[in-house]
Parts: sequence; C-alpha cells; structure tokens
Amino acid sequence: MTNLLPMAQKSFNFQVVKNPDPMPADKRQEFVDKPVFGTVFTDHMVDVCWSERGGWHRPRVQPYGPIPLDPAAAVLHYGQEIFEGMKAYRHQDGSIWTFRPDQNALRFQRSAVRMAMPELPTEYFIQSLKELIAVDGDWVPSLPETSLYLRPFMFAKEAFLGVRPAKKIAFYVIASPVGPYFGGDAAPVSIWLSTTYTRAGRGGTGAAKTGGNYAASLLAQTEAADNGCQQVLFLDSVEGKYIEELGGMNIVLVYKDGTLVTPDSDTILSGITRDSVLSLAADRGHAVERRPITIEEWRTGVDSGDIVEAFACGTAATVVPIGQLKAQDFTIGSPDAPAGTVTMALRQELIDIQFGKREDTHGWMLRLDQ
Ligand code: PLP
Ligand code: COI
Repeated sequence: MTNLLPMAQKSFNFQVVKNPDPMPADKRQEFVDKPVFGTVFTDHMVDVCWSERGGWHRPRVQPYGPIPLDPAAAVLHYGQEIFEGMKAYRHQDGSIWTFRPDQNALRFQRSAVRMAMPELPTEYFIQSLKELIAVDGDWVPSLPETSLYLRPFMFAKEAFLGVRPAKKIAFYVIASPVGPYFGGDAAPVSIWLSTTYTRAGRGGTGAAKTGGNYAASLLAQTEAADNGCQQVLFLDSVEGKYIEELGGMNIVLVYKDGTLVTPDSDTILSGITRDSVLSLAADRGHAVERRPITIEEWRTGVDSGDIVEAFACGTAATVVPIGQLKAQDFTIGSPDAPAGTVTMALRQELIDIQFGKREDTHGWMLRLDQ
C-alpha cells in the first residue's frame, strides 16, 4: 500500500504524560466493540499552545480530562473556534491508518485563516495524530465499519473581552471509538428541507469548519427530527432555491445516465469524502459535475426519472443513501426507497480502501502507528 505524503521530515518534541488511571482493558474493549458515536473518549489527548509571541509551543500528550479555561476566554464569548473530523482505521494485520490527513490539515489551515487564527503546519497536525495513536492505539476498534474518530480542534483561550483575534490559542486532539453515524445497515435516511433557516451566507463562514456553523444548524436540525428526518438540508441564503449541504454532510445526486452532480458553492464545506467518492466515480467512468442545483431540478428530475439516486457523504457518516426529502409542502422520493446501486458501490469501494481491503491507487492512506 502506498503512502504518498511527501512530508518534510520535521519532528516536534512532544512531551508524553501517561494517564496514571487509564480505563481498564476489559471495560475499554466493551466500548470499542459497541461504540456509540462520540460518547466515550480515549485515555489521552494532544495539547499544544500558540501565542503571538511564542508561536506553536509546548506540544504534549497528556491524560484526557477537563481543560482549564478562564471565564473570559474569547472562545466562550465570540466563538473563535475550528475543528476537523477524521478516522483511524484498523487493517486486518492490526496496523492503524488514516485517510487523506493532508487534506484535513489543509482544510484546518483554511478554516484558521477564515477565523483569524494561526495556521498549524501540516507536519505538526499529522504528528499530533501519530502521537495520540502511539499511546491510545488499543482504542482503535477492529469490528467491521468501526473506527477511532479523531477530533482535532483549536480555540481562542486568551482571557480578553475586546473583539479582535486572540493572541493565545489552544490546539487539542481527542479521540472516540465510533460505529456508523446512522447505525449499521446503511439504510436510506430521510432529510428535511429547511426553508426557515439558512446555514451560511455569502462571504460568511460556511466553508470553514467552525463551531458557529453547527450552532446555527441546530434549530433546523431539531425541526428535521420533529419531522421524522435524520438530517436537515439547507438552501442558499440569497435566492433560497439552490441546494447547499446537510447539517453535517455533503450531498450528491445521481442521474440516470450515470452523471454525478453536487453543488458548487463557496458557502459549504468542501468535503474530503465527497471529493474522494467523486474521484472513485470518475475512475469508474461516471461524468462528474460540480454546479449549482436548484431544489426544483431535484424535484422534477425525480418525477421525470432523470434523477435516480441521492446520497449524503462525510467522514462520520461515510456514504449514506437518501431515501426521501421532506419539505413543508412536498416530498421527493419515499422512506422505503431502496438504496441506489451507484451509491452502494461507491460506498463499498471507499470503505474497502479505508479498511485496507482494496488497493489504494490514489495514495490516500497514511499509516499512523509507526
Ligand atoms: N459538510 C458539513 C457541514 C460537515 O460537517 C461535513 C463533515 O465533516 C461534511 C460536509 C463532509 O466533510 P468530510 O467529508 O471532509 O468529512
Ligand atoms: C464529520 O463527519 O467528521 C463531522 O464533523 C460531521 C458531524 C456530523 C460529526
């Protein structure tokens, strides 16, 4: 398997403070074998500081636990915060890998720029994942479609109530054993079309992975749940007619001629899963289009039979078929719609690459445990 990340061989000197009271192995195994998304965390976390004067410094791996924070820390008031979502996968030979971490590192840098925060160098970002796996590797599950979710994040910790970029920032990585986000069988999900709320506006922070975007989505997500849907779909905030993305995933439509179409918008997150799935589709000979799509195009396309599948994709969810879209006054599809064949083939191919069961021809996988 290839490892095509040509990284500078820079290495940062992480101090490792071992957890004196780690979870007992039998209890850990229970959680690892039956993971529930984002509920249980490993024994350690990465903790790195940044200050305007000292730059990135004091890289540490330390016991997982509460973070001391001044009540005036800027993040608590102005939400200067960004994060990433990635997974560590255990391969059949026991080795531990992650998927396209260079892309997460780059997106973390883009999010940092948008939120007026310092950019963490890619080498530092990737080393922090390896440092955490070096102490918490036993937490990486091995059952099918389970993995260790990695959550790098950073926030403004300077205690200061003036509104300006903070001069002190904290970077952390925590990890949690997870199974499939929507449960085991990749059954089609229902999504709710929000026409009351939008997620992001032109020139706003929609393309950054920042907590505020998710806070802004919660009420709409609650509306989705009230209507029996697992996710919410947002429209653009200017004309209210172009589809954007779901609360925590991108969206792709499949046309009957095999073309895959996904929204082209600078107010959505540029998903690494979406980019990868579209590459795999192109490898299979599918045409791929990134362009604006109206909700009307989806509706009439399904009615006419031109649009035959829709799926959501993201790190947490991988690839999930969309059975139905429900809106205030119409629905597209049906909750009982079978999962599409293109969707399921791409899903399987992606998962097989991530779990080392299929050749990684794109050089997407990076080994973390060495
Ligand atoms: N869009 C949003 C709002 C997300 O939270 C995510 C998940 O991270 C995605 C899209 C998909 O991004 P990725 O495939 O990089 O996980
Ligand atoms: C991810 O897929 O990593 C996300 O951050 C989205 C969230 C729904 C967990």
